[in-house]
Formats: sequence, C-alpha cells, structure tokens
Amino acid sequence: MIIAVDGPVAAGKGTLARRIAEKYGFHYLDTGALYRAVGLLMLKEGQDLSDVEAAANMAARVGEVSPEDPGLREESTGGAASIVANNSEVRAALLQYQRNFAHRKPGTVLDGRDIGTVVCPEAEVKLFITATAEIRARRRFDELIAKGNSVSYHDILADLKIRDARDQGRTTAPLKKAIDAHLLDTSKLDIEAALNAASVLIDNRL
Ligand code: C5P
Repeated sequence: MIIAVDGPVAAGKGTLARRIAEKYGFHYLDTGALYRAVGLLMLKEGQDLSDVEAAANMAARVGEVSPEDPGLREESTGGAASIVANNSEVRAALLQYQRNFAHRKPGTVLDGRDIGTVVCPEAEVKLFITATAEIRARRRFDELIAKGNSVSYHDILADLKIRDARDQGRTTAPLKKAIDAHLLDTSKLDIEAALNAASVLIDNRL
C-alpha cells in the first residue's frame, strides 16, 4: 500500500506522515529532504541556484548528504530547495528513487508536493494537508524559536508565501491537490485528530 501525503510548507505533513508510518509499520520517505539535499549542495558549492545544469548534476549526488546534516533543516536550504525544485531535470533525476522506494513492502508513506499527482498517482490513499498561511508561519516560528534561532514572524510568513507561490506556480509538477485526494485542514485539527481521520481512510483500503 502507498500513502501519499502532500501539501504546502509547514502544514504538518511530516508529523502526520511519520505517525502513519509508525502506526502501520510502513516505510517513510520525506521527499522534501531530497530537494533540500540538492539545494544544500548548491549552497555549499557556491553555485548559482538558477543554473539548471549545475542543479541537475547535484541531483545525481544527493546520496552524499547525510540525513543528519543540520544544514538540511535550515530556512535558507528550504528556500534553495524550492528554487531547484522548479528545474524539470532535477525532478526527473529524483523521480525513479522515489518510485522505487514507494513500492517497498509492506507499505510506504511518502510526503511532498507531487506524490499523489506525479510520483505515485496509483497511491491507494492520498491526503492533501493544508492550514492557513498564518497558522503555518506561527508553527514554523515557534519551532525555530524553540531551537534557539532568532527569527521574525513576519519574515517567516513572507518567506512561506513566496515558497507557496513558487511551488503552486511552477509548470513541472506544481503543488496541487490530486482530484482523488482527501483534504485535511490542520488549522482545525490537532495531530491526533488528523491521524484518526487518516486512519479511517487507510483502514478502509487495507
Ligand atoms: O517539504 P519541504 O518543505 O522540506 O520541501 C522543500 C522544497 O522542496 C519545497 O518548497 C518544494 O519546492 C520542494 N519539493 C517538491 N516536491 C516534493 C517535495 C518537496 O518540489 N515532492
């Protein structure tokens, strides 16, 4: 079984996808980390983020970035990721890895932007997670403050809106709800309620 969890930045996809994977004993893939790894390599090597060829070459080297690299979680890396994610060669280079992962047994949960639409249109359960921009920015702000970063809520909100627009506006695999995806608005649901709602849909397909 493949479970696709898509949605905009900081909607709560990662937390929900991890909880689903834990509950059902499925493998979990954070596909954003692949784009972040490309963005991080570009930043580390001082490449121009709009250099299509350099980014495509970096996509072949994502295995060099440790999942534990703290640079992966930085805001600057997220911004770089959303720029290189616009590059169709980067997307094509990362596609096969994601598809192979998706077919691992006994099941998988993938979170990202285009899992239900492009990577795994055949997924048995598709969830599209949203929340208002203000709530998502507030969560990201609280998370960064808790980690000891000094950031401004307004900068986070502005940055999040730019990333949303970039992810929704690109021509290759834009962020959008698959027609057969179930919408979960986490502005109104806490993680336990979201997990319960997802579990009902999954249990129906097991
Ligand atoms: O999910 P996360 O915020 O870590 O993803 C970082 C960036 O990678 C996103 O802003 C998006 O542009 C890109 N991404 C994507 N497709 C995915 C996952 C992430 O384009 N499946």
